[in-house]
Amino acid sequence: MKFFFFPTGLAAMILLACTMKETANVVQTVPPTTLAEASPFPVGFAINPSPMQNNARYRQTVTQEASSITADLAMKPSRISPQKGVFNFEGADYLVDFARSQKKRVHGHTLVWYINTSPEWLKQLRDSTELETTLREYIQTVGTHFKGKVASWDVVNEAFDNNQGAIRRDSVDKSGRTLFNVGKILGNDYVARMFQYAHKADPGARLFYNDYGQETIPAKLNAIVAMATDFQQRGIPIHGLGLQMHISIDTPDAGIETAIRKLADTGLLIHISELDVAMNPGKKKDFIATPALIEQQYQKYKFVVSTYKKVVPVSQQFGITFWGVDDGTSWIPGHCQCTDYALPFDAQFARKRAYQGFLDGLH
Ligand code: XIL
Repeated sequence: MKFFFFPTGLAAMILLACTMKETANVVQTVPPTTLAEASPFPVGFAINPSPMQNNARYRQTVTQEASSITADLAMKPSRISPQKGVFNFEGADYLVDFARSQKKRVHGHTLVWYINTSPEWLKQLRDSTELETTLREYIQTVGTHFKGKVASWDVVNEAFDNNQGAIRRDSVDKSGRTLFNVGKILGNDYVARMFQYAHKADPGARLFYNDYGQETIPAKLNAIVAMATDFQQRGIPIHGLGLQMHISIDTPDAGIETAIRKLADTGLLIHISELDVAMNPGKKKDFIATPALIEQQYQKYKFVVSTYKKVVPVSQQFGITFWGVDDGTSWIPGHCQCTDYALPFDAQFARKRAYQGFLDGLH
């Protein structure tokens, strides 16, 4: 008996030890939740059709982690209308169909943008009547196409000048040469009219003004709040404000909190619409993500999420959207011409400390 007892007990102990190790591993590598499940408000990613079709891990990550999506490029005017009078909805429809099949919200981005993704033909227009009519017809066509399928739109993106905060942003080419200025051609109040056109096209869509740098440029933040307040007083159909939040580990917390608070004070829906946290703001050539930088990024994500949850009343929490999914497809390296790792998933789609920062910010 003794002979049999001893090895059986030993085997049980070994088995128990293995199970505990297994359990510990499982807890470490597979958190019991996803961002969408953990968050009381929608969590989104800006996504593109090509990796959705060709990269199983990208698609799986979006499917599991998101409750909302934004089109990174597919709904920009240059993609939808590459030539005057031509409308191509293929990429955007693909994303919308995916979202609807997965019961995810679609946030439309963007109807009017001062230049970067305006199609070349649109940039040539200088006559105020022609420009206004063209933008109105564009909004009518696109808004109607997605009516009932897109929950919300960024109606106008980045209209404000960074220095004066007036709605007079110059459209410049890549070398900084001024091409034209929508505000000067149409008058600063063109933004309000674009909202009216969008509302007419899809009366059910929630309409947002979206911009960047509000956490670091007080003049711009104040100008946006003033415009939103003016729209509310005049009955212009605005429902929300988007804080792009392309920030870095060095962006001061105070500016982030002030921007969220001032926008929330308008009573409108608040969308952190394009979140990413750059780790290499100095654009160092030989950049290495040290443990200290990884920790700073964790803290910054946590701060953004906890501040949003604390400061924005629940009824105004439209959600938080990452600009991209993973470090391998992020727009940041192309934009800064440098190495960076700004998103919650690494290039292999493993959850980073940044991901944990988002989760910890919820608590
Ligand atoms: C970016 C895209 O992600 C890039 O691929 C493209 O080259 C430029 O535009 N603010 C916005 C987004 O509102 O539309 C931008 O998206 C990022 C900055």
